Amino acid sequence: MSNRSIRSLHGRQHRSSDARMTPETLSRTPNSVYSAISTSRRSSSSRQSAVKVAAKSLAGVFIACFTPPENEATSSVSSDAQRRVNKNGCDPTRSVLVKSYNSTLERETGSIRFTLEQMYKATDNFSPARKIGQGGFGTVFKGTLDNGMLVAVKRAKKSVYDMNLGVEFQSEVQILEKVEHLNLVRFYGYLEEEDERILVVEYVPNGTLREHLDGIRGDILDLPARVDIAIDVAHAITYLHMYTDHPIIHRDIKSSNILLTENHRAKVADFGFARLAADTDSGATHVSTQVKGTAGYLDPEYLKTYQLTEKSDVYSFGILLVELVTGRRPIDTKRDPRERLTAKWAMRKFKNGDAGSAMDPRLERNATNSLILEKILELAFICIAPQRQSRPSMRRCAEILWSIRKDYKELSASDIDSISSLSERHNSITEE
Ligand SMILES: Nc1ncnc2c1ncn2[C@@H]1O[C@H](COP(=O)(O)OP(=O)(O)O)[C@@H](O)[C@H]1O
Ligand SMILES: [Mg+2]
Repeated sequence: MSNRSIRSLHGRQHRSSDARMTPETLSRTPNSVYSAISTSRRSSSSRQSAVKVAAKSLAGVFIACFTPPENEATSSVSSDAQRRVNKNGCDPTRSVLVKSYNSTLERETGSIRFTLEQMYKATDNFSPARKIGQGGFGTVFKGTLDNGMLVAVKRAKKSVYDMNLGVEFQSEVQILEKVEHLNLVRFYGYLEEEDERILVVEYVPNGTLREHLDGIRGDILDLPARVDIAIDVAHAITYLHMYTDHPIIHRDIKSSNILLTENHRAKVADFGFARLAADTDSGATHVSTQVKGTAGYLDPEYLKTYQLTEKSDVYSFGILLVELVTGRRPIDTKRDPRERLTAKWAMRKFKNGDAGSAMDPRLERNATNSLILEKILELAFICIAPQRQSRPSMRRCAEILWSIRKDYKELSASDIDSISSLSERHNSITEE
């Protein structure tokens, strides 16, 4: 399976007899899993068995992941066809933007409808010099609006226009213009004219997380910076999952869809696959839909059953956590066969008490980093549990990451204490 995006058409939402987990169970389950694992740190035998169970499940995951249902290939491997984007709403910046364009632009349902002329002007006629990205959806340009605001202009390539694109493009614009969060790339507006589909979003200046992990952009991110990024992403997804009007599933959480600011704050981009979650008020537990996502990050249960829930994002997030601490891509075909599936490889290392050797070689090796690495891997492995019921909610992931960050700070502080008390003693010895 190549590491390309898999896209297909939306399916229908339907009811099922599956018992949906209540919010209570959701918060209990991850709690108990995490505390069980935390406790297991104290007991190597219980730790081994917890990990064995997880390892066994993970083996199942990978088997499932790479043996998709027969009819899935046709429906899922796609044509880069339906990309939509997302966005978010009406913060002060956006209001200013909207006001400054109100006189000339048609304003629809809270987002700006741009004209082609404005887009040509903003991008110097889609100049190659302004190209900042290329993806399944098309080409991304850095644009400057009349008021000086920098934006990213995502222009769909013509080959992606099919019968569904117009409908999906619009429905996505309508869904996503409502959401707004610091850790989501802000949506400013769009253009839909004849065969042009363009999305205008906040310009995020510091490249993708993947570029940083590859070391081709900026300095190497240290472990605390990576934990902060994980927390930002967890917040963004939690917000989407808990969005009150109607929860939203992103469906394409991965390192190349995480953009970084100059201060290494993360913003989740590319809502091309996002869709509404099941309507729990009407008793539905999941949305049945054909599979979209990216190989390596795809929830095997969704892949097998076509049942989409918020837990599919949790699965992808778990894979992202492994990526953050190992620095490796989820599928690394250039490696030895036993190391190609990064999560499986990292879990094996963890199980053998050798998690440290799975750590990104660019990260500093010290006791604090090793401990934090293990905690993050533990969380990652719960997130990628083969069955969605065993995975924590995104909110719970954020909470666990907060506690990991707190641990990190305390451990670093105690390191500093012991170092400074050592140096104090040293001083007093030399003074004597
Ligand atoms: N808002 C943005 N700010 C800066 N660069 C962006 C922005 N959006 C996208 N890019 C660049 O363009 C690439 C493709 O964008 P993405 O939104 O992921 O589109 P696709 O749907 O084609 O995958 C990203 O990996 C990134 O390098
Ligand atoms: Mg993308």
